[in-house]
Amino acid sequence: MHTMPERRAAGADLLVLGGGVIGLGCAWRAARAGLDVRVVDAGGTERATEVAAGMIAPVGEALWGEEALLAAAVESAARWPGFAGELESDAELPVPYRRCGSLHVGLDRDETAGLRRLHDLHSELGLEARWLRGSECRRLEPGLTTAVTGGYEAPGEAEIDTRVLLVALRAAAEARGVEVREGRAVELLVEDGRCTGARLESGEELHAERTLAALGARLGGELLPAEVRPPIRPVKGEVLRLRARPGEAPCERIIASERVYVVPRASGDVVIGATMEDRGFDLRVTAGGVHELLREAYRAVPEVAELELLECRAGLRPTTPDNTPVVGATAIEGLMLAGGHHRHGIMLAPVTADAVAAELSGGEVPACAAALRPGRFAARLEGTTA
Ligand code: GLY
Repeated sequence: MHTMPERRAAGADLLVLGGGVIGLGCAWRAARAGLDVRVVDAGGTERATEVAAGMIAPVGEALWGEEALLAAAVESAARWPGFAGELESDAELPVPYRRCGSLHVGLDRDETAGLRRLHDLHSELGLEARWLRGSECRRLEPGLTTAVTGGYEAPGEAEIDTRVLLVALRAAAEARGVEVREGRAVELLVEDGRCTGARLESGEELHAERTLAALGARLGGELLPAEVRPPIRPVKGEVLRLRARPGEAPCERIIASERVYVVPRASGDVVIGATMEDRGFDLRVTAGGVHELLREAYRAVPEVAELELLECRAGLRPTTPDNTPVVGATAIEGLMLAGGHHRHGIMLAPVTADAVAAELSGGEVPACAAALRPGRFAARLEGTTA
């Protein structure tokens, strides 16, 4: 029987490249499943998790034609309470998962008609949501504008402070024996068609039975060999953080309109997001982006004007052509991917981490994960029309 450091000298069971919610989530769950895991974290400048509003909103994010994504979202949202409870217990830290519910509102007749069509889709799909008239919306959330003409409430939706989540994930992973080190992988080690680890910027080589690339928007970059590189692009989102005085939160639930969402935290922080911009690796916060967010948030919940403005930042959503993540093994033996979560990284973290841990440990992979396999882009990568 080898001790953990002896085993590690010969290479870990799993090397995770990426220290965001997906990388750390997978590392923690794999370690819980008994694997020896090491994480290499290149730091947070581009990390979507730190900027994310932290909504767990399968109803609010449901769109026509995204059935595979919806199935994963519903499954993952159902796993969230258990995931948060186990995280709290392993990390020995509070994990502020909060089932605050959400209210999606229309502020004129066109917006409300569009929402009504979406709500019909929710009913067809059996999602938990109820339609409300404008006055009923305002009874639930008195801070809403009097212009609200209707909307739907999704009482099961939740939010979590993503920065607290990251701290807890790292603590839980380390408590389960995961080694997290700072560094940037610059090359994958591939021998005879098998990935055996990665070389870091420092020149050090880290070896492992399996390597999981969880590199956010960089998953589509040149670290991965072209034949397994998923078509992932960054979609920029500008996000604002504000703070309410104690007892003066502008809303109890997540409030979303066509162009903005307002997410209240138990701490009194309020997150307003988010723009959607195809601008490559651009993290600049623009006057236009901030103006749009504040204008639209004010239009829905005028009381946001009273909040203290703390922060304006941008994050990069890692986005695939079908807005659905890539999770699982690649055509290179020993190399797995977990990424491309687009707007849904926080919501999909439990199902992603459980799918990866189950695949690695021989456990039961959630059925919805079959539609997330990276191989669905293989024909495109090989340039065929199959
Ligand atoms: N999860 C919401 C967004 O990406 O803006």
